[in-house]
Amino acid sequence: MSTKESIASRQLIERARQITARELQTYIERTPGSQRATDRARKVLPLGVPSSFQAYDPHPIVVRRAQDDWMEDVDGHRYIDFDMGFGALFAGHCHPAVRRAIERQMDDGTLYVTPCEMNADVAELLGERYGLPMWRFTNSGTEATMDAIRVCRGITGRDKIVKVEGGYHGHHDEVMISMKPPISAAGPADRPIPIPATAGITAAVLADTVIVPFNDAEALERALAGNDVACFIVEPTLQNIGICLPDPGYLEEARRITREHGTMLIFDEVKTGITAGWHGATGLFGVQPDMVSLAKSIGGGLPLGAFGGTAECMDEITSGRVLHLGTYNGNPLCMAAGRAVLAEVCTPEATAATVALNAKLIAACDDTIARYGLPAHTVQLGAKGCVTWSIDPVRNYRDYKATDFDLAFAQWIHGINRGALLPPGLDDQWLVSVLHSEADVMHYGEIFAEFAAELTR
Ligand SMILES: Cc1ncc(COP(=O)(O)O)c(C=O)c1O
Repeated sequence: MSTKESIASRQLIERARQITARELQTYIERTPGSQRATDRARKVLPLGVPSSFQAYDPHPIVVRRAQDDWMEDVDGHRYIDFDMGFGALFAGHCHPAVRRAIERQMDDGTLYVTPCEMNADVAELLGERYGLPMWRFTNSGTEATMDAIRVCRGITGRDKIVKVEGGYHGHHDEVMISMKPPISAAGPADRPIPIPATAGITAAVLADTVIVPFNDAEALERALAGNDVACFIVEPTLQNIGICLPDPGYLEEARRITREHGTMLIFDEVKTGITAGWHGATGLFGVQPDMVSLAKSIGGGLPLGAFGGTAECMDEITSGRVLHLGTYNGNPLCMAAGRAVLAEVCTPEATAATVALNAKLIAACDDTIARYGLPAHTVQLGAKGCVTWSIDPVRNYRDYKATDFDLAFAQWIHGINRGALLPPGLDDQWLVSVLHSEADVMHYGEIFAEFAAELTR
């Protein structure tokens, strides 16, 4: 970076901090109800929230209602929701078809713990999309990745797993490693040191999780060289650090290398699932894994996860070598919602139309970035998108850590005070649902342009 560029960049950061300070004050003044609700909740829930991902300072927006593509907070403010349940609501809030399916199912009961016919309906619908023949259901993405890993360990008889630095696969022990490690402790970029993301992870678990950088086939080859790794679990595009796309050929290489070393390949499609396209990222990139884990948007707002695999993998469960259990697995309410989402709501046509709508939002943001010369770029994957505050594309976690968080935070808090709710993590991405309108989406484009104008004034 030239001296001139670095002065310009310092000026932008300074300006972003001023915007943040002003907007935080506005946020505090307009959301006293959320503050009160959070103060109360903090007395009975750690951080005042049911999942630590929901906590942020000074307090999160506390919601009382949501429908279609909006949410309303306890202070009566309406937001166009672009967070959409961390990407779980591709069908929108309470899509009429999902609501009908749930209401109908309430007449027939919510839990049987003996099978219902919808189990096979939903498994068949998933099989059509992902090209994998056998499925099981879970209640969350965490369980879906946990069970898929167990199947891979069962079939290979190996203990070790490989995951990507900066990748998130839920909150079970073996994947809560190197989620967002401090760079100072994380070792060389091409040979990252496994860092536990939480207390409570045993040394034995830590020893079995090997970390590689995304988009580095050589590092993967090295990690698998001992033929002792059960599986490589990876999101086809990392979506815990904005949207980090695979380099051309990387997923194909991952497929070749895993096969060569007898290692199973799991695509964690909890986020990309039905949002990347009708066939998920698996279909989009044309690389077939041994197993896929799903959750979020397949449930249309209800807690539904799933994992699917080749007949060979899933025979581990059929034979009883691997046990897969759960009282609520395949519960009829979630099955009814999932069937409506997969068969009626997120059809190929609706998916394509929503992806095209998202492309318009991306184009509007691109236009703003070019017009104001912002040090940023957009990334789109299907119905999801993000503005990343760096000029160069993010290829892995280390690149992501070099992006500008001051600018990202200022953009987020500026949007929220103007009724556009984007994910709070700065590392997440927006989701356009089948219920977002063009006007709603372009409204965010305008808010972003307003932010850019102020930032560069
Ligand atoms: C890629 C990925 N895998 C797994 C999970 C865990 O899913 P859940 O929160 O439903 O347990 C998440 C959650 O954000 C995710 O993004």
